[in-house]
Amino acid sequence: MLKAVHHFPAGFLWGAATSSHQVEGDNTNNDWWLWEQQPDRILQGHRSRKACDWWGGRWKEDFDRAATGGQNAHRLSLEWSRIEPSPAVWDEGSLAHYREMIRGLLDRRMMPMVTLHHFTNPVWVAERGGWFNPEVVAWFERYVRKVASSLGDLVGLWITINEPNVYATQGYVLGHFPPGERDLKKSFVVTRHLVQAHAAAYHAIHEIRPGALVGIAHHYRGFVPARKASPLDRFVARLRHRLFNDLIPRTVFDGILRNPFGRERIPQARATQDFLGLNHYTVEHCAFDIGRPKELFTHGFYPEGADLSPTGFIANDPEGMWDALQWAHGFGLPIYITEHGVEDHEDRLRPRYIVSHLMKIWHAMNIHWRVQGYFHWTLVDNFEWERGWTQRFGLWELDVETQVRRKRASADLYAEICQMNALSSETVARYAPEVHEKLFPSRGSPDLGLTGAV
Ligand code: FCB
Repeated sequence: MLKAVHHFPAGFLWGAATSSHQVEGDNTNNDWWLWEQQPDRILQGHRSRKACDWWGGRWKEDFDRAATGGQNAHRLSLEWSRIEPSPAVWDEGSLAHYREMIRGLLDRRMMPMVTLHHFTNPVWVAERGGWFNPEVVAWFERYVRKVASSLGDLVGLWITINEPNVYATQGYVLGHFPPGERDLKKSFVVTRHLVQAHAAAYHAIHEIRPGALVGIAHHYRGFVPARKASPLDRFVARLRHRLFNDLIPRTVFDGILRNPFGRERIPQARATQDFLGLNHYTVEHCAFDIGRPKELFTHGFYPEGADLSPTGFIANDPEGMWDALQWAHGFGLPIYITEHGVEDHEDRLRPRYIVSHLMKIWHAMNIHWRVQGYFHWTLVDNFEWERGWTQRFGLWELDVETQVRRKRASADLYAEICQMNALSSETVARYAPEVHEKLFPSRGSPDLGLTGAV
């Protein structure tokens, strides 16, 4: 059996990613809290309630878990509704609380990456039309200025907005997130405001903290044609890629928003990323279907035999990570994997999902695609939006009633990788023996997956 240790470069960031509403608990002053109280919005009527009780102080024990597990970074988000509970009214106590948390990371030798918007809005923003109202750009900038002035001395890495494409799609096309609209045209107006707000935040942070690095966490979903020979399947896969994956990153690259309803210049958004944040989970197969105009004439599915997660949410397809990185590399910026993980209560799939994807990342880095860190989604089981508590993404299991955490094997696997700053054949043999031969073949040379690189 081939024995090898694949090292990552010194200074590579290893962490987990979290978001305020999903872990803090008692976020009663945002649009998600209200949404959760409405019937049929969340699977099985679940609610976030205390979540992982971070606001109650359990962030301390969870940061200890991460630090003991060799993590040297953590991505967390700030809850706008706590910091600015009503327009231009600042809650200094909440800012002090976040300051303590960020200090808590630094004390544990973990680099904070701070997200300013992760899906939730203060109730006052939602009541004034949310992200459909052009005034949101100025509101967001005011909030960002306050935060950068209060916490900027402790934070070097900022994410302005998490997954603007998912936010616009879920909130304004599919209706799974508040405000629950189903209006494609509206979603592009919202997209414009998200881009403008990002640009305003980017410039504001740089004005206040010139040395800070600022980006967006983009969600990249692989779309492959179901039948490669079918021009229609290829067309719809391409269309989805263009609108979902490419539209926003391109706009913050060259300042031109190319939505299906026309081109529009947003010059202040040009070159407003210091790095590219990449959230990547899975790859979807796309078949043309005339009966689905609302889904851009696409039937999206996972193919038969796919290595599926327990709720069928994610297919384990590591080639997708390669494609995502190749796409990200095209922007010429340093890359952070800002989210990657799988819902897997029993932790059967997660170990091979982690190591197979990390292998792709390692190969990509060997041809100088500039990946500088990896943040696993997530540390402890959390409240998964409209899917409630039905999906468990944590390295650690959470009993929501008792707040007791139990370690999954993947936590040990990930700790071994973080501590060694490497992926070794022995780690894979121990935690994911079923993919050992594939990743470290005993005969012949490993498939480096370089086909797409030339
Ligand atoms: C991403 C979200 C994150 C989490 C994961 C599973 O789209 O950014 O909050 O829900 O999916």
